[in-house]
Amino acid sequence: MDKKFKRTTVTSALPYANGPVHIGHLAGVYVPADIYVRYLRLKKEEVIFIGGSDEHGVPITIRAREEGVTPQDIVDRYHSLIKESFEEFGISFDIYSRTSSEIHHDTASQFFKTLYEKGEFIEKTTEQYYDEEARQFLADRYITGECPYCHAEGAYGDQCEKCGSSLSPTDLINPKSAISGSKPVRRETKHWYLPLDKHEAWLRRWILEGHKEWRPNVYGQCKSWLDLGLQPRAVSRDLDWGIPVPVEGAEGKVLYVWFDAPIGYISNTKELLPDSWEKWWKDPETRLVHFIGKDNIVFHCIVFPAMLKAEGSYILPDNVPANEFLNLEGRKISTSKNWAVWLHEYLQDFPGKQDVLRYVLTANAPETKDNDFTWKDFQARNNNELVAVFGNFVNRAMVLTQKYFEGKVPVCGSLTGYDQDTLQEFADVKVRVESLLDQFKFRDAQKEAMNLARIGNKYLADMEPWKLAKTDLPRVATILNIALQLVANLSIAFEPFLPFSTAKLRRMLGVDGFDWEQLGRTDLLPAGHPLGKAELLFEKIDDEAIQTQIDKLEASKKANETASYRAKEVKPIVLFEDFEKLDIRVGTVLECEQVPKMKKLLKFKIADGLDGRTIVSGIAQHCKPEELVGRQVLFVANLAPRQFKNGLVSEGMILSAEDFDGGLSVVTTMREVKPGSEVK
Ligand code: MF3
Ligand code: ZN
Repeated sequence: MDKKFKRTTVTSALPYANGPVHIGHLAGVYVPADIYVRYLRLKKEEVIFIGGSDEHGVPITIRAREEGVTPQDIVDRYHSLIKESFEEFGISFDIYSRTSSEIHHDTASQFFKTLYEKGEFIEKTTEQYYDEEARQFLADRYITGECPYCHAEGAYGDQCEKCGSSLSPTDLINPKSAISGSKPVRRETKHWYLPLDKHEAWLRRWILEGHKEWRPNVYGQCKSWLDLGLQPRAVSRDLDWGIPVPVEGAEGKVLYVWFDAPIGYISNTKELLPDSWEKWWKDPETRLVHFIGKDNIVFHCIVFPAMLKAEGSYILPDNVPANEFLNLEGRKISTSKNWAVWLHEYLQDFPGKQDVLRYVLTANAPETKDNDFTWKDFQARNNNELVAVFGNFVNRAMVLTQKYFEGKVPVCGSLTGYDQDTLQEFADVKVRVESLLDQFKFRDAQKEAMNLARIGNKYLADMEPWKLAKTDLPRVATILNIALQLVANLSIAFEPFLPFSTAKLRRMLGVDGFDWEQLGRTDLLPAGHPLGKAELLFEKIDDEAIQTQIDKLEASKKANETASYRAKEVKPIVLFEDFEKLDIRVGTVLECEQVPKMKKLLKFKIADGLDGRTIVSGIAQHCKPEELVGRQVLFVANLAPRQFKNGLVSEGMILSAEDFDGGLSVVTTMREVKPGSEVK
């Protein structure tokens, strides 16, 4: 670590407790943060890892209202679920707490008061929409209306979900309160603002000159915010869920969620270390690092630092390694559209495979650009890398030692040039992995670790010790000794990345643990050391398991398309006399068969209460002939007969409903009626 610093405070964004967590959260924030913290701990550095749930904000209140429960019910439910998911994935927080806690309310409240008393806020009165029936001001999300751009109904006061435009509530045509349905009126309200414009100068110097080492995506986003010029930002809201604004005349107002949430990092540290929390936040020898996703950059690089600076006694972040987004099968992950791989569901479907997901998410980490998670890639990385390279190498080394040396580490004899080269590659890996991790390049660092496994695998494949057993056992001993030293090294190098598998690996090697400092050494296992029992480190994932996941996503795609579907515009008006010209009747299907050589066509024999008739219909791809026999259908009885190419004549048309995706469903009667009954 940088000489300036003695210890590191690592925070990871507090996820909103209004839904479960998914792979995007894990890839973007929690796995990299966890790797980093585990690495620092292995190096025996002083570090704390702070997490928790973000339990305020408007979406939580909307969800509660929709479900008819309280916001507290919502956050209780999801806080536990989220906390559990993180534990299962080995995200090694020193504390995972929550912003509805008392200590957080006190801390955030006090923070506001300090700034208020120092005169760090400005007060402004503006007009906002107010619901006279519900007697409350309306958050942007609580106002709906017609989108001024695409004219869709039901656009929100901050965004139209149909066309994606961002809006402000006053843009909406015919605004309506989502609470009472009434038409909101404008009313004056007072709020407190953090005058970011006053902080602009030092922020520019601090970031643009002082932190050129930040990731280009982070630095670039900060630069464009700063270049646009900063504006005062409201830090309070008219809402009844949150932390009350602790000054007189602020009844019915709470702190804006983005004001209180980052203070949650501090509150949670206090909860963890009531007596010594301050050194983790106020000592200039402490390095503060925030792990976040890219949508949080402005809050962590500009707003929160301005708050900390305004307060006066806090340190500022030294780095903010924000990730870009992880997409899923080519689409943006979306909680509301259920387009996600939920962690609690992954664990049900792939029990014990936490490390596989950790590995794949790191291998594909969206560090510099958005990245895509696909189930095929997940399978390939598991089968071709974890199983075929890492697992295979370890297994061979273990099994051969069992076979030829009764499971004891054999004696290393004299080395060939190739042996020495192999060992040399290992010796360098520590420096390389460390330098990458120090720069928050987790993806590349894991690749280096994996490279060790490749070297090991190749070494055994090239040496083929199993062929030498009869002729040169001492040489086999040397080869396996080297291989086992490499395995021991793998258990160190992968420890920050794959905590479950490396623990297993150490059990297999019969050792309690190694020091990070030992990485790269070739004398980790003394000759004669008895190995533990060989276990399967990784196992193949078959096509079926992958298909199940793909099908699950397909199903939610379907469900969504239905939900967001808007019917076609209605055709021009027709007169009743015109409608009456159509003679629609009920018929019973007597026979139904596929028309030979015409993939789409079914031929029906219909009982119509007269002489019967033949109708040909293009629905063969949507139903099976045998499903239709005996069913009642509706048909147009007076449609001009139509002749098909093969000479077949259709005497009418069977009515089907066409679904939005083109699927056809034959229309039938609710009760059985006599064939030939008229439909009117
Ligand atoms: N809840 C926010 C989100 O999910 C992140 C809050 S980070 C904190 O985008 F710093 F405010 F805690
Ligand atoms: Zn729109």
